[in-house]
Amino acid sequence: MKGVILAGGSGTRLHPLTRVTSKQLLPVFDKPMIYYPLTTLILAGVSEVLIITRPEDAPSFKALLGDGSEFGIQISYAAQDKPAGLAQAPLIAEDFLAGEGFCMILGDNFLYGSGLGRKLQDLQAARGATVFAYRVKDPSQYGVIEVDEGGKPLSIEEKPKNPKSNFAIPGLYFFDEKIVEICKKLKPSVRGELEITDAIKEYMIRGELSVEVLPTGTAWLDMGTYESLLEAGEFVHIVQSRQGMLIGDPITAMKSRSNSK
Ligand code: DAU
Repeated sequence: MKGVILAGGSGTRLHPLTRVTSKQLLPVFDKPMIYYPLTTLILAGVSEVLIITRPEDAPSFKALLGDGSEFGIQISYAAQDKPAGLAQAPLIAEDFLAGEGFCMILGDNFLYGSGLGRKLQDLQAARGATVFAYRVKDPSQYGVIEVDEGGKPLSIEEKPKNPKSNFAIPGLYFFDEKIVEICKKLKPSVRGELEITDAIKEYMIRGELSVEVLPTGTAWLDMGTYESLLEAGEFVHIVQSRQGMLIGDPITAMKSRSNSK
């Protein structure tokens, strides 16, 4: 299984913290932010990871993570020249993907929950696209998905002023190989970006979109603001000091993956 981490972007909401470094290298309690999405991919069963960064940040990511052998996976890197949107990622990753489906995660997304790894591993073989739905108080700052009682998707909107549901779409997606062809046809949105929600909408129109509602016990945070960055660090600190186990640690995740085989 292949995975892509999108770790570019300008991180303007975190200025001045991100003026001279990448957001995804900032500390979240005792680890760099990218460890958390990397761990999620490892728990999902991913063995080959492509990390997409700004060109100027690539040396720092390579110095931190190397070729992935320390974690028992393969890591390679690609640059995104300008932050032109999340849906550029499958295009940048086209050669790496070589016509296969994959799991994509945003470099600032934190996910933690009982049984999450196993659930993600079960989704690997699915056709079409799979996204998640996570209940939040204020969904207007996220991609928002509306589902019927049977879990069938009805609408998808990016940062709507008047959300049709309380379900945000976390930055973790499973796509089959058709994503590349779909993203090639997308036009930039009013904010000038190729939106991943537009690609997901295309899967919905084709009847090939599955939605998994994340259990309420799952923690999902987008660490892109001062508050959420602090909250994620506090969460990691509390869970680790209470349980005496590391979370968001790729080596620990790989050990637990190997033990559960
Ligand atoms: O966190 C989940 C949300 O992420 C989703 O609900 C939204 O549908 C999705 O559009 C996205 O919204 P954000 O406004 O949070 O995206 P942001 O611009 O912060 O970018 C998310 C990550 O992707 C961040 O780590 C930076 C990286 N990125 C972003 C852009 C636009 C890139 O690497 N390249 C880019 O071109």
